[in-house]
Parts: sequence; structure tokens; C-alpha cells
Amino acid sequence: MTIQEHYSLKKYNTFGVEAFADYFVEVSTFTELKKALLFRRQHDLPILFIGGGSNMLFVNDFKGLALKLNLSGIEIVQETDEHVWVKAQGSENWHEFIQWTLSKDFGGLENLSLIPGNVGTAPIQNIGAYGIEAKDSITEVQALALDTGDERLFSNEECEFSYRESVFKNNYKGDYVIVAVTFKLTKHTHVLHLDYGAIRQELGANTTPTIQQISEAVIRIRQSKLPDPAKIGNSGSFFKNPIVDVKAFEKIYALHPTMAHYPMGDHVKIAAGWLIEQAGWKGKRFGDAGVHDKQALVLVNHGGATGREIYDLSENIIADIYAKFGVRIEREVNMIL
Ligand code: EPU
Repeated sequence: MTIQEHYSLKKYNTFGVEAFADYFVEVSTFTELKKALLFRRQHDLPILFIGGGSNMLFVNDFKGLALKLNLSGIEIVQETDEHVWVKAQGSENWHEFIQWTLSKDFGGLENLSLIPGNVGTAPIQNIGAYGIEAKDSITEVQALALDTGDERLFSNEECEFSYRESVFKNNYKGDYVIVAVTFKLTKHTHVLHLDYGAIRQELGANTTPTIQQISEAVIRIRQSKLPDPAKIGNSGSFFKNPIVDVKAFEKIYALHPTMAHYPMGDHVKIAAGWLIEQAGWKGKRFGDAGVHDKQALVLVNHGGATGREIYDLSENIIADIYAKFGVRIEREVNMIL
């Protein structure tokens, strides 16, 4: 384990922007992780965990210790006739983990195929797509407290999951690092989630798909809309879809009756991609920072953009959407300011 100084993080963020960490270390065992946490305490440094680097934007250099975790392994920890509990270490690549579950015919995660990032970061923002969220399958999250190095197990309830939120982004922000996650999956009695419009359309005449076929359909849909970070820097949806109360919604809807939205009881989720497209930002480019031309919720780095340029673009979009629709959209991506 070597602690390096003034280390480039360009290859560790899917936006591909340049940023330097004062200190950088890679750890592959719990012992190394505890040593790195001790170094951080001794030097009183801010800490940043680098997982898949798929949900962060470096607006500035990081004045602290950037820690890259390499904890791998997947194991079945419990089994009944109908279910299996699978524990995956935090640094397992999310999509490869799903492919492993599908190779065993374990169901539950297929709709979340191809989401960038690692297993350990999935609970933080409760990743979701095509009608399901990580919280629907997570039974336990294993974490280490940054201050003491002590282990803590969080039940699903203790994670306080909601739309793109968890306790790890809120009350316990910066307090824990997630080292492993356990998922409860189905063995035969798979529950298929086909209702998200594009999925049925993609499956066409196949109304009784296998979980593997659902995964393939999701992959095709994502590939048609979302840019591949290996080719064009991005972090998936940059903004969250805003959730407003019915009264506020009705006011906006009266003026914009074609607005894409999803009722949620006494609230309504508005499609931020629709708002951004209607405001004229889709496909726009400012130097190398831009808005993706197939999905306006995604900001992209066409090559040489700085984190600051992408951040400034996001500020301009937020202000413009507020001016045009009276809705304040929020970022989903974690800003390193
Ligand atoms: N829309 C537009 N213009 C756009 C983009 C979207 O009008 O440029 C409209 C669409 O026509 C549709 C609605 O907005 O009526 C929703 O679009 P879409 O199905 O593409 O989903 P989304 O709400 O924009 C969310 C997630 C995605 C996830 C998809 C599918 C958030 C912040 N994003 O996007 O997640 O893949 O649903 O479930 O909730 C991610 O978080 O990184 C991500 C890609």
C-alpha cells in the first residue's frame, strides 16, 4: 500500500475531467483500509472514496486523501427453495455483478443492467431504472465507520432509502464507507417488471420474457439513449426528476399540458429531461461541455471540458428551468467543490 502525492484522478471519474488529489491510495484488504483511515486521521485530512467514479464531478482539485477501494468477491450467504441471499463486495462492478446473478438465473436486478458504478455505491443513491430500485433487493449493507474503523451492519430500513436517496447521503454523509452489500434474489419465482413503457416496446411480441431477455432489452434501450462513458465523458442522469405536490404540479401543468410526469399519491414526479429539452438545452454545446443530444438529463464532456465548465452549465440550466417553469431541479451527481 503506497500513499502517493498530487495524483491525477482523471481516469477515476467517468466524466474524464482532470483533477488532482493531494494524496491517493489504493487498498485491497480490510487491514490496508484501516491503515489508510489511520493515516487520514493522523493528518486530519478530508477523505473521498473512489468507487466506479460514475457519480462525481470534480469542480476543483481534492485537498485530502482519495481512496480507491479494491474489495472483490461474490458469495451466496443463505438459500431457501425460492430465494437466495447474495453478498457482493463493494468494489465489484455493478453490471458484471448483475451478469453473474443472471448466469445463475437469480432474478431481481435485471432492470438495473448497465448502470455504471460499483456495488458499494449502489445503496448511496439507491440507483434505479425501468421501474425498480436497488432498495427493492438490498437486505443488508456492511459499512466501516471512518472515525473508528468499526464495522456496522445496516438493515434495509436503517438505510432510509427513497428516490435517489439514503442515509449515506444524508444523516451519515461522510461517516461510513460501504464495503459489501447483500441482496435477496429469486431462484424461480421471478417477479418481472415490464411496465416501464420502453421495456414492453423493446420486447415486442415477447410477452413472457426471461430475466436474461429483460436485461438484454434494458441494455439495448440504455445504449440507444445514454452515452458510453468510455467514448464520451458523462455521469448518467446529472439531475434528479423533481417531485412536487399536486397543487404546484397543477399550476405548471395548466400552462404545459404536454409535460411528461408520473403521479405519486399526493405528489407528482416531473420528467426533468422534458423540462430541459423544452427549455432548448438538448444537444447544446459550450466548448467541450454539453447536454446529450438523445437524453437532456445527461451532461457530457466532449473531450476537454473542465469540471468547472460542466458545473457552470448545470447552474445555468437550473436557473433557466426555474425562470421558465418555476421548478427548481437538483443535481443527482456528487459535486467535489
Ligand atoms: N424526456 C424528454 N426529453 C429528454 C429526456 C426525457 O422529453 O431529453 C421525457 C421522455 O420522453 C419521457 C420522460 O421524459 O416521457 C422520462 O424519460 P426517460 O424514460 O428517459 O427517463 P428519465 O426520467 O429521464 C430516469 C432515470 C434514469 C433511468 C431512466 C429509466 C433519474 C434521474 N433518471 O430518467 O437513470 O435510466 O429513468 O428508468 O431518475 C441515472 O440515474 O443515471 C439514470 C440514467
